Amino acid sequence: MEVVIAPLPELVQLAANAIEDVLRSKPDGVIGLATGSSPLAIYDELARRHREDGLSFAKARGFMLDEYVGLPKDHPERYRNVIEKEIASRVDWPESQVQGPNGLATDIKQACADYEQAIKDAGGVDLQILGIGTDGHIAFNEPGSSLTSRTRIKTLTAQTREDNARFFDDDIDQVPHHCLTQGLGTIMEARHIVLIATGKQKAEAVHQLVEGPISAMWPGTILQMHPHCTVLLDDAAASRLQLASYYRGTYNHKPDWQGI
Ligand code: F6R
Repeated sequence: MEVVIAPLPELVQLAANAIEDVLRSKPDGVIGLATGSSPLAIYDELARRHREDGLSFAKARGFMLDEYVGLPKDHPERYRNVIEKEIASRVDWPESQVQGPNGLATDIKQACADYEQAIKDAGGVDLQILGIGTDGHIAFNEPGSSLTSRTRIKTLTAQTREDNARFFDDDIDQVPHHCLTQGLGTIMEARHIVLIATGKQKAEAVHQLVEGPISAMWPGTILQMHPHCTVLLDDAAASRLQLASYYRGTYNHKPDWQGI
């Protein structure tokens, strides 16, 4: 696990460079997409690179991490619509090449199995963008999730529904209780994982993620087992890290050619 502590604009460049590298070397690469606030600045930068530098998503495939169960097809907070608005429609990404779990399926189990199969058929995820919840969830794998879980239905914690109420007119009652989410085992199969976290409210989850014991109570800790995981943090999100000065020194002395 590589930990980079830097100002947000630098973190955004690192993440966008890594995604651009995938798409330039493999135009039909598979990008794993997160929703929520954390990746938005990365999506803005990718849209800029598309506009100004011709970065193309025309052949790329995208797989979302998760989806609320039961939100109507045209609901603005349905994650498939959020991803369309925040990235896919701002670049040349054909709608049919971006998929999410089907939160409106009548047969949820089958929809989850189909989603796993679709990721497999695409050859797996080349680069997965992740955020982390204040309770340590990645995708919607809440505390207590099996560390080898696959795509399935989960119940959101009260904490997550409270955190996400800001997207639903600050009304927690509008936040669905259920979601479909890639499992921790699914996410772990991505070839490169880039997690971005900013702000003090993420500091404890980040401390556990990087330095805590691997535990289903802090689901993100499973990423310690991943062979190529990059954790991008601003100062506030890094503020509880015990080895912060070591991570800073390591990054500052990193050879220029190395990338993330
Ligand atoms: C969203 C997702 C979640 C978020 C997490 C952080 O697809 O999978 O794990 O990444 O809840 O949310 P933000 O970025 O809004 O703080």
